[in-house]
Amino acid sequence: MKKFVSVLLILSIFLSFCACSPKEKPLKIVTVTDTHFTGNEYFSYEGTFFEANDSNGTGKQIQYNEDLLDAFIQEMLVEKPDFIVATGDLVFNGAKVSHLALAEKFKTLSEAGIKVLVLPGNHDITGYAFTFPNGEPEIAEFITPEDFKEIYADFGYTGAVSYDPNSLSYVYDTGKGTRIFMLDTNVTYGVALGNLSKKSTEWLEEQLIACKEAENHPIVAGHHSLLSHNPRFDFTYKLGNGTEVAELITKYGASLYLCGHLHTQHYVQTETLTDIVGGAFCVYPHRYGVIEFSGESWEYESKTTDVAGYAESIGSTDENLLNYPEFGYAFFYDNAYDQAKETIYSVVNDPELAEKYSVFSAQLNVAYFGGVFSDLDLSFAEDFIAATEGTGWSSYMQTVLLDTKDNIYCQWPAKTE
Ligand SMILES: [Fe+2]
Repeated sequence: MKKFVSVLLILSIFLSFCACSPKEKPLKIVTVTDTHFTGNEYFSYEGTFFEANDSNGTGKQIQYNEDLLDAFIQEMLVEKPDFIVATGDLVFNGAKVSHLALAEKFKTLSEAGIKVLVLPGNHDITGYAFTFPNGEPEIAEFITPEDFKEIYADFGYTGAVSYDPNSLSYVYDTGKGTRIFMLDTNVTYGVALGNLSKKSTEWLEEQLIACKEAENHPIVAGHHSLLSHNPRFDFTYKLGNGTEVAELITKYGASLYLCGHLHTQHYVQTETLTDIVGGAFCVYPHRYGVIEFSGESWEYESKTTDVAGYAESIGSTDENLLNYPEFGYAFFYDNAYDQAKETIYSVVNDPELAEKYSVFSAQLNVAYFGGVFSDLDLSFAEDFIAATEGTGWSSYMQTVLLDTKDNIYCQWPAKTE
């Protein structure tokens, strides 16, 4: 198995219109998204449900879910950001026990002086929930929006500048010339679609005006993207009125929007706004973003969690964790390979070519989610597309390949100044 070497992705943008002046040391914010946390106690990996998910699902690393989060927390205690902004899909499927277990984990960060802010994704307040104590689904207690506010009272739902009476959106003052706008972008809870309602949009504009009057700079976050990152997935992954919301926030000086939901590490830019989708934390290579604001500039760096280092530090004897770069890559690669193979072998008659294309697809998929295309051989990409044309897998791969070319979707990895 080829070892996939993660690299740090750095994006620097110099803001020309930030009204604030440098105050003390730079504001440091870590963004993390789509943790899809389960909590080991209520989720056994052994059983048919997760086995089925491994081969057909989205490559979520469920087996080591809690270890991954513990590794992230350990890293944060060293990184010491001022804020951690978690942009939704905090838990696997809305189970109250998972939310409570996650809030308990966040306490460690609070106690270390790191302020955690959360907002809900489509998997957090679902109207249904399951746990998997024996690897099989069992109906579990789900949470309401009121429960969400209560469980995460210390993580954004107390002490904010303003709360939207129509949703779970709020604005938090960092005290360093910046306000973080945490938008609840769910159309309705439990549905993947995103939109900001008319009332919430009005509230947002009022708060943007207040932010400007206070000579603060707005940073905006939500679960769904505002801009298009992949045309194939716009319907459920991009905010329905994303263009209008993007226009609104840039009108009041926002230049950075942070989100998740798509699970890929990816960004797009207009002249006025950079929209960054963070790679899903639950998916290899388990990324998070570090942003430093310094006077008139900000810099974004995407990092991967050092799971093996964490395993070693706690004296783990689990070989998968101790060799996590190889194990994590193989897990996600195999997930994509199985899906690709099913389609490709059915339309490509030459077994040697079918295998070559399946391997290429899996590598391309891992690269796409990780946000790094640099070490891929793309010389036979066109032959691959021609040979698999007309299949769903092929049309998905075509959208991914667009990112490897110089067009509007090809903006990662990159550096802008
Ligand atoms: Fe989501």
